[in-house]
Amino acid sequence: MNAVPQQALDRGAGDVPDRTAGDPSGDRILILDFGSQTTQLIARRIREHGVYCEIRPFDLGADAIRAFAPRGVVLSGGPETVTGDATPRIDDAVFESRVPVLGICYGMQAMAAQLGGAVERSPHSEFGHAVLRVAESQNGGLFAGLGPALDVWMSHGDKVTTAPPGFEVAAESANAPIAAMANAERGLFGVQFHPEVTHTEGGGELLRRFVRDIAGCDGDWTVSNIIEQAVARIREQVGDDRVVLGLSGGVDSSVVAALLSRAIGKRLACVFVDNGLLRKGEAADVRAAFGGASNALPIDVRMVDASDEFLNALAGVDAPEAKRKAIGRTFVEVFEREASRIQGARWLAQGTIYPDVIESAGTGGKTRVIKSHHNVGGLPERMNLRLLEPLRDLFKDEVRNIGLALGLPEELIHRHPFPGPGLAVRALGEVRREHLEALREADAIFLEELRRADWYRKVSQAFAVHLPVRSVGVVGDARLYENVIALRAVQTTDFMTARWAALPHDLLARASSRIVNEVYGVSRVVYDVTGKPPGTIEWE
Ligand code: XMP
Repeated sequence: MNAVPQQALDRGAGDVPDRTAGDPSGDRILILDFGSQTTQLIARRIREHGVYCEIRPFDLGADAIRAFAPRGVVLSGGPETVTGDATPRIDDAVFESRVPVLGICYGMQAMAAQLGGAVERSPHSEFGHAVLRVAESQNGGLFAGLGPALDVWMSHGDKVTTAPPGFEVAAESANAPIAAMANAERGLFGVQFHPEVTHTEGGGELLRRFVRDIAGCDGDWTVSNIIEQAVARIREQVGDDRVVLGLSGGVDSSVVAALLSRAIGKRLACVFVDNGLLRKGEAADVRAAFGGASNALPIDVRMVDASDEFLNALAGVDAPEAKRKAIGRTFVEVFEREASRIQGARWLAQGTIYPDVIESAGTGGKTRVIKSHHNVGGLPERMNLRLLEPLRDLFKDEVRNIGLALGLPEELIHRHPFPGPGLAVRALGEVRREHLEALREADAIFLEELRRADWYRKVSQAFAVHLPVRSVGVVGDARLYENVIALRAVQTTDFMTARWAALPHDLLARASSRIVNEVYGVSRVVYDVTGKPPGTIEWE
C-alpha cells in the first residue's frame, strides 16, 4: 500500500475564497481527500446535484477547514489502513464544526477508529460487487427510499467491527457486518462501499440525500448561476482592461472565449495560431465558430498562419520530446509577437480546469498538475500579463454544459481532445510536409467514418498515426511501396488509463479501404490494439 504523503499545500491554508463563481448561496461541501482513485468522482456526483464542493487534502488544517465553512464534509476513501502506524487522521475541526459528515471506505474506518469504535484487518477482502442489506431502522435516514437490498461496489481489506458509541449499524454485507453506520442525531454517517461509482445502485441518490437533505445545501450550482457568477467575477477582476486569449479550437479555450465575450465583449482579443500541425479543416472551423459576422459569437479572432515557422523549427528533429520542445518554443515566440500587437492588454486568459489544479493526496500531493498546453512557457510572466482562469473551479462536464448554454456548437463541445503539438506527434519521426498531408487526409476519413457510424461520441479519442515505414501493396495492376497508417481509438474517463475501442469490423473496413484508395502515399492500414498501460494514447 502506498503511503499517503504529508503534503504541504501550495494554495496556502488561509487562501480559501469566501465565495466561488456560481455558488450564490455560499452552500458548499468540503471533500477531504485521503488518496482514493475515486475522489474526483465524489465531487462530480455532488455537483450533479447542484451543490458546489471542493476537494482538499486530508491534512488541510483546522483554520482552513473553519475558513471554508462547509455545510457538510465528505471523507474520501484511501489506500492507507487505520490499523497501521502513521495513520492519516481526520482533523478534530471536522467533528467540532458539528456539520454533517459522511465517511466513505477509509473515511468511515478513520471515523470509527477516532470516535471510539474498532477496525480490524479482515481475512476476507471485498473487491467489486457486493449485496448490501439495509437495516429497517434506516428507512428515513441516509438510505431513505433505497433498499432493503442494494448492489454496491466495495474495495476494502479492513472492516469496522464495532461502531462508535452513539452509532447504529445501518447496513451489512457478506464480508462487512458493519457496511454502513449512522449517528443520525449528530449527522455522522459512514459507508464502507463507494456511492460515487456508477456500479453502486442508488449511490447518486445517497449522495443527494447527504448534501441536500441532511447537510441542507441549496441546489443552486446550476449552469445559469455558474455563468452569471463567472461573468460578474470576470468583470470585477478585469475592470476596463483588455484580455488576450490563445484560442486553440479545443473545448476549454473555446468556452473561455465565449464566457469572456459575454463578460467583456470587444475587450477580448483571441489569437489562433495555425502551426501547420492541425487537423483537416480546423482553422476554418474555428473561424466559422467564432469569427464570422453572421455568427452568434462574433469574437475578435486573429488568425495567424505560422506553419512555415513551425515546420522550419521541426526540420531535422525526430525525437518526440525534442519535437515538443521545438513546438513549445516556437509557439511562445509567435504568440508573444502577436499578442504584443494588441494594445492595452493586461490579462492572459487560460482554459485551466479543475482537474488540472486538484492536488490529490494519492498522487504525490505537492505536484500541482498543469498540462503543458496550459501556461505555455511561463507566458504570463514573460509578457508581464496577469493570469485569468475563469474555469479553474469547473469539471469538464460543467465546462461543456456552460459552453452549450453560451451557444457554442455541439460538435465543438464534444470534440475529442487534441494534443498541443498536434499532428507532429502523430507523424512519427521527422515531420515532413508530405507525411502531414497524408496523415491529415487519413485522419479526416477515419473521423468521418466514425461519425457516420455513430461511434465518435462512444470513444474518448480517435485519430490516425503516420508510420514512416514502407510496405508493399497492390492497387489494380500496380504495385505500391508506400507508408503505413495506424488507426487508434480509445475509451477512457481520465486519460490516465484507457482501453482500445472494439470498433465494429465493418467500420474499420470502410475506413481502411477509403484511406488506401483516397490517400496518396499510403499502402496499408493497421488498427492499434494496445491498452494504456502499457501503451500511451499517443504514439510519441
Ligand atoms: P498519452 O499519450 O500520454 O496521452 O497517453 C494522454 C492524453 O494527453 C494528450 N497528450 C498531450 N496533450 N500536449 C498536450 O496538450 C502533449 O504534449 C500531449 N501528449 C499527449 C493525449 O492526446 C491524450 O489525450
